[in-house]
Amino acid sequence: MKTIIEPFRIKSVEPIRMTTPQERRDLLKRADYNLFKLHSDDVLIDLLTDSGTSAMSAQQWSALMAGDECYAGSPSFYRFEAAVRDLMDFKHIIPTHQGRAAEAILFSILGGEGKYIPSNTHFDTTRGNIENSGAEATDLVIEEGKDPALIHPFKGNMDLDKLESYLGEYGDKVPCVMLTITNNAGGGQPVSLENIRGTAALAKRFGKPFIIDGCRFAENAWFIQQREAGQGDRTIKEIVRDCFALADGMTMSAKKDAFANIGGWLALNDDELAEKCRARLIMTEGFPTYGGLAGRDLDAIAQGLTEIVDENYLRYRIRTNEYIGERLDALGVPVVKPAGGHAVFVDARRWLSHIAPLQYPGQAVACALYELGGIRGCEIGTVMFGRAPDGSEKPAAMDLVRLAIPRRVYTQSHADYMVEVFEELSAIKDSLPGYRITQEPKMLRHFTASFEPL
Ligand code: F0G
Repeated sequence: MKTIIEPFRIKSVEPIRMTTPQERRDLLKRADYNLFKLHSDDVLIDLLTDSGTSAMSAQQWSALMAGDECYAGSPSFYRFEAAVRDLMDFKHIIPTHQGRAAEAILFSILGGEGKYIPSNTHFDTTRGNIENSGAEATDLVIEEGKDPALIHPFKGNMDLDKLESYLGEYGDKVPCVMLTITNNAGGGQPVSLENIRGTAALAKRFGKPFIIDGCRFAENAWFIQQREAGQGDRTIKEIVRDCFALADGMTMSAKKDAFANIGGWLALNDDELAEKCRARLIMTEGFPTYGGLAGRDLDAIAQGLTEIVDENYLRYRIRTNEYIGERLDALGVPVVKPAGGHAVFVDARRWLSHIAPLQYPGQAVACALYELGGIRGCEIGTVMFGRAPDGSEKPAAMDLVRLAIPRRVYTQSHADYMVEVFEELSAIKDSLPGYRITQEPKMLRHFTASFEPL
């Protein structure tokens, strides 16, 4: 059969509150044209993030009931630990309430003034935690990863030549090497097993711990199976195990590839580093057998990890994004190619070329998508990255709109509806206005700034 069906039936539904374009025009104005300020029940299709928004399975809901809420030594923790270890065989597995908590703990110990930490591309919270410790975060993704229109199977790869020079130049100032799979900030693009191997080998040669940010590890493994020579006959689980066997540790947000609504972990092989991290965990998150989570959350993660490596799920998951990407491409909407693992990214700067970057073409697309179709995406461009710490403003490298697809939540007809909204938008795109910011906070302005159409 040609059609790849959703590999699940729907047992429990959440009604969508229907709204009209006129209502949404008013709601948008009341939200100061900032989609983060909307009430989510005023949104028809919410593509703001794929994080914590997954639909849990019947088995996960059952697992919640088995959750044990004891402070220390809960069986939920041991089920969680075994499920993680089945895929990522690290010596120490430390639960946290989400991914950024794992990062905060790790970099409070490895970071600090005068340190330099490379990755393919650090996610915002990773960069934030590194910089907050006083260290510098450096992105060393391959050049191909920076060109939205260029097709390459592994646009998330680390530039190994640059990493080698970096490690040579900064020497003892580098406490670890990081790698984000898939590369969220670069469009959800995968990293090949060969590149993970190359990064691990360089880290080892220079005596640095190699830490993987594994948020979307299963999507990354699917791309390896589909695109990398010699990997096609291997199971997702085998590929996942190979990826993490190369690392000395990982940070993880269970809100992505564990189908959980909350949770994360930090995993390490080094006993001394793990001991320091656990001490920090007790101060900031909780005892090491719950780490800021309820026992039932640990059980939901344990079950989710057995489901995420299912090839039927991953085939449907990745195909959904490809399908939306292909249909948008056919409409002439410029998208980041190839489609990423968790999202479709629209190149708003290219699409709305009449709007200057400092009038925020990404914001213009995001607002129009909401007004016309009730779709909430996320500007990833000059609004998010344009303000420098010294107060000056300049265009970001790209002005993109991310349409992040929650896991197991929307169906093919939702996807077709999205494409239709883009089709209507194409007809009026040249008349869309740019925006100006009327009020903004000093940091992370995209979350709370107020806008006005020009
Ligand atoms: N690393 C990556 C690659 C991420 O995408 C995220 C979160 C984190 C770390 C932090 O995890 O949210 O559990 O603290 N990304 C979400 C997103 C927020 O929308 O892309 P967290």
